[in-house]
Amino acid sequence: MTITTEEQLEKLKAIGRICALARDAMAAAMRPGMTTQELDEIGARLLAEHGAQSAPVVTYAFPGNTCISVNEEIAHGIPGDRVLLAGDLVNIDVSAVKDGVFADTGASFVIPPEKTQLTALCRDGKKAMWAGIRAVKSGAPLSDIGDAIGKFAKKGGYTLIRNLASHGVGDSLHDEPGEIATWPDRSERRRMNDGLVFTIEPFLSLGGRMADQKSDDDEWTLVSRPSAPCVQYEHTVVATPRGAMVITVAN
Ligand code: CO
Ligand code: CO
Repeated sequence: MTITTEEQLEKLKAIGRICALARDAMAAAMRPGMTTQELDEIGARLLAEHGAQSAPVVTYAFPGNTCISVNEEIAHGIPGDRVLLAGDLVNIDVSAVKDGVFADTGASFVIPPEKTQLTALCRDGKKAMWAGIRAVKSGAPLSDIGDAIGKFAKKGGYTLIRNLASHGVGDSLHDEPGEIATWPDRSERRRMNDGLVFTIEPFLSLGGRMADQKSDDDEWTLVSRPSAPCVQYEHTVVATPRGAMVITVAN
């Protein structure tokens, strides 16, 4: 989506706020002993209360309202009877639609008491996302985003998952201009047009390089190859001449 009217922007901000509220409510509710299904229901209730629908359900008939990925799982985990344990690394990804407009956000957390290595990975995963967000400006090359994130990852000795991209969002969950690399990509020649709506969602890892299907009988859940801890932080943003307008915020 490219924002051209105030009305579009208001609708985008409204669904962005709802996604952020669901993300934050789920994060606040996480505790050892809870199942990922219970966590998903908290997000589902919040979306329903605000008149929003789960984007993965509407778009892909995903078997859950949100994606919840634990430890070895890095994305598109299916909520179910898995019990969260202290020290687990949990990613929640919330995308939803209201009034025909979609937004998408995600974040990773460690269930307390935390393991220090994972806490540092979470802190730096968030920084990697912000390095990308700071590179947003209408007219600038789209490749600036992946370059900024790549530089940050390299400095910290981290790897990036290179087959899970950021993407356009707004009129649909995965919208124009398609995939946007959140790693350095020499083939990227496009620029950010004014009002372009897209996600920034690097997957920062302690060694992982590719996402791969977890098992033959689960077409959704992705794990890291080689197997390594991995975090994802995701905001939906709009490119403006003054930089990124971050849409998936709760206030
Ligand atoms: Co997402
Ligand atoms: Co996304």
